[in-house]
Order: sequence, then C-alpha cells, then structure tokens
Amino acid sequence: MKRFFKFGVAIVALLVVVGCCSECAKECVGKEQTVIENILTRRSIRDYKAEPVCREQMAKVIECGLYAPNAMNKQTWAVRVVDAPDFIEGVTAIAVEQMPRIAEQEGFRNIFRNAPTVAFIACPEESYSGEYDCGLLSENMMLAAWSMGIGSCCLGSVVPVMNSEAAKPYLERLQLPEGYKLLVGIAFGYPAQEIPAPTPRDMSKGFYVE
Ligand SMILES: Cc1cc2nc3c(=O)[nH]c(=O)nc-3n(C[C@H](O)[C@H](O)[C@H](O)COP(=O)(O)O)c2cc1C
Repeated sequence: MKRFFKFGVAIVALLVVVGCCSECAKECVGKEQTVIENILTRRSIRDYKAEPVCREQMAKVIECGLYAPNAMNKQTWAVRVVDAPDFIEGVTAIAVEQMPRIAEQEGFRNIFRNAPTVAFIACPEESYSGEYDCGLLSENMMLAAWSMGIGSCCLGSVVPVMNSEAAKPYLERLQLPEGYKLLVGIAFGYPAQEIPAPTPRDMSKGFYVE
C-alpha cells in the first residue's frame, strides 16, 4: 500500500512538472548533466545565436542563482535580465563610441560577446559578503544554464560602459536598489561556436595540508 502511494506521488509530481513546462523546457527534462561533468565542461562562450534564451529556461537559471549559498541568507544581490534588442544595441552603440576599435573585431554584433540575453548582477556598495554572494550566484546561474545547453560568459568589461554618463538611462532601466553597484554582466545564449577546449588550470593552487 505504502509503495503504491509513493508511486502515485511520483507520477503526480512528474505530470505536474511536464504539464507546467513549455516545449523548450520539456526538451531539457532528463537531459541535465551530472554536476561534476557540468562543472568540468563549462567554458566561457564568446559567440551566440541571435535567438534570445527562452524565458522559461532563463527563469530556471535565475531561480538556481537565487538558491546560491549566501551570508546569513541576507541575499545581498540583485539580478536583472535583459533580452530587449534596443537595450543591447543601445549600450553597444555607446561602447563603440567610447572604444571604436571593439567594432573591428571579426563578427562583432554587440559588446556582450554577441549574446542576445544578458544578466546584470549587482550588490550593495557597503556589504562584507555581497561580492562573494554574487560570485556564488553567478556561478550557479552559469552552471544551470550550461546544464540546459545554454552558454555563458562573465563580462567585467561591460561595467565601466554601464557606469558611464552616456549609459545612465540604461543603468536606470535596471532599477537597482538604492546603494547597489553593478558587479558584472553575464552573457547568455545558445552557442554559435564550437565549445572551446578546457583552459588550463594550475592544480597546485589547491591541496591538502597535513
Ligand atoms: C569577474 C569576471 C570577469 C570577466 N570578464 C570578462 C570579460 O570582460 N570578457 C571576457 O571575454 N571574459 C571575461 N571573463 C571570463 C574569463 O576570461 C574566463 O572565465 C576565464 O578565462 C576562464 O575560462 P573559462 O570560463 O572558459 O573556464 C570574466 C570572468 C570573471 C569571473
């Protein structure tokens, strides 16, 4: 009887998950990579298809970010996701005016490594854990994305552009809470390049001490 009950609960849970998902989310059910494989195969992706990331998938990415560990569960972060072409093109135009040479890069379409979807991550200016919390949140988001075949790339380079006077209207559109500073942008999109080989890591940086 107990076993029958458990089976029933599992079936209902599965129906709820599948029933609630749109087509793009359904494709991913059961295809998630294992955590370790996911971590070791993620690479920064620097060219993307034009199609924005499906918003339902992106909602899951945001949720995974917000479930990151964070000091005293104060959740000292703000995440804003943008896929509006006028935003991406507008900020790109400002960046090109400031640094005309960036537009000379082969295949250049925008300053977010051609990503159609960008997350902006911010934390309070005065916070002992904000930057750390946001780092954990960012990695959660990038790994969650990768598990669904969505590439990503952290972009520190977009922060000075977003903080420039010309980009003020775009920064305001992010509606960051008072006293928050922008830490990083994260490009998200479906890769339009081969997945790069692993970048070398110095394994001597971590070891047991006896
Ligand atoms: C805080 C931060 C800022 C970064 N800024 C940039 C950037 O402006 N442009 C870029 O192409 N990559 C940027 N990266 C990506 C790193 O270059 C990349 O993670 C690193 O080279 C390791 O490669 P992998 O991500 O493929 O393992 C940034 C990464 C971090 C964590």
